[in-house]
Amino acid sequence: MALSKDFLWGGATAANQLEGGYNLDGKGLSTADVICAGNLQTKRQITYHNADGTRGSQEIMPYHDLPDGATCDCFDDYYYPSHDGIDFYHHYKEDIKLLAKMGFKCFRMSINWSRIFPNGDDDNPNEAGLKFYDDIFDELKKYHIEPMVTICHYENPVNLANKYGGWINEKVIDFYLKYCKTIFTRYKGKVKYWITFNEINIMNVVPFYSGALLKADQQSCATAVFNQFIASAKAVKLAHQIDPNNKVGMMIAHGAIYGETCNPDDQVLAMLKERDRKFFSDVMARGYYPAYKLKEYQREGITIDLTEENKQILKQGCIDFIGFSYYDSMTVSATASGSISNVISSTVKNPYLQMSAWGKEIDSQGLRIVLNDLYDRYQKPLFIVENGLGAQDELINNTVEDDYRIDYLRKHIIEMKKAVEEDGVELLGYLVWGCIDLVSAVTGEMKKRYGFIYVDRDNYGNGSLKRFCKKSFKWYQQVIASNGEIL
Ligand code: BG6
Repeated sequence: MALSKDFLWGGATAANQLEGGYNLDGKGLSTADVICAGNLQTKRQITYHNADGTRGSQEIMPYHDLPDGATCDCFDDYYYPSHDGIDFYHHYKEDIKLLAKMGFKCFRMSINWSRIFPNGDDDNPNEAGLKFYDDIFDELKKYHIEPMVTICHYENPVNLANKYGGWINEKVIDFYLKYCKTIFTRYKGKVKYWITFNEINIMNVVPFYSGALLKADQQSCATAVFNQFIASAKAVKLAHQIDPNNKVGMMIAHGAIYGETCNPDDQVLAMLKERDRKFFSDVMARGYYPAYKLKEYQREGITIDLTEENKQILKQGCIDFIGFSYYDSMTVSATASGSISNVISSTVKNPYLQMSAWGKEIDSQGLRIVLNDLYDRYQKPLFIVENGLGAQDELINNTVEDDYRIDYLRKHIIEMKKAVEEDGVELLGYLVWGCIDLVSAVTGEMKKRYGFIYVDRDNYGNGSLKRFCKKSFKWYQQVIASNGEIL
């Protein structure tokens, strides 16, 4: 059986990585706007004012700890890639036209929360921000491209971090729901596919991105995730009430996980690591905290507000589909970690796989494994909302011969098709990350490119911003036109 006629081929982006216009038309600062650029060697930094007015900066890392009284801000002498992105704010018509030319059926984007509620806790939304997205949705409609909107893609209004400490504070749930109600109502009939939080499982990796936390430790991350689960569940209910046609999904960063050998120690470790990810989809797709997580919290002395009322909220707010990003796989070894409970520092090189220039182990078969695994576990429709290769491209004669990207995508699509056609997985669509070059999330670089469309801009903000079609542009055009038959 071939892919369905309605299969949603397309690409994915996030506002903070492409829009720019960070302070235009009433937009407030978001958490992304106070993170300066990094690279492979230097981590990105959060910049802030100390309580005494002096300045400080701290690397984004799992457990950062900004000084008491610090307020995040941006400064003229630092470079913040989100401020200009690729200036989609002014180029969206040209860009959408190119995506339409490729035959896109679906375009994933995020709404920049601080464009709608500049401070997060404002009484009224910013009309200019709402209008900007109206214009984008109208433009997409012109070309019959279905939008998919991520409600929060690492773009919390920075005021929610500074004034409330981010998602550790349950007041943020209400601000988020007010924002959801505003956009669900305004874009009713224009947007059907929603994702409540991008890669919600990244809370344990970069809590500033995900949770806008000023201080992060195990307890605050668990609380922030709990608050996001409640917010998401309530948002699902609200979206269905406002428009029963709405389809609301969750989104996790996924990838296959292998134990290094058939030694049961390695396999147990792989299972534990797997569970760390599945915990998020378990709660959002099944509607309750799994026993293994409650046991872990008990052991670690972590508490969450799991009242009967909150349990009901989770139960009634299960998502409609499971979205996930897939880039690579990971191999874990109990010997390398020295202990099977040490899940973090146990990753080893997989000798069977090639590595990308940015250290991702390329594994197309892993995608088939993940698709089967998620579908068997939840029996809900899946959506690959990110997949792609970050690579350094060279623009020669106004194009890029990116055969390496074509090769990566082709192999992943082949495995995806096996999962659908041979294994019977229900899959709604396939979106290529960064379909137009944009700023990298982890390193903040432009040099790491994923797109079919090259954008002339470098790591330091230089360049004409002109757009050029790469070789992969034509290739993907033909993939979509043949519904995945010609690869
Ligand atoms: C996902 C994120 O984790 O991976 C995107 O949802 C991100 O925002 C993408 O850009 C690729 O990561 P990076 O660091 O290469 O941009």
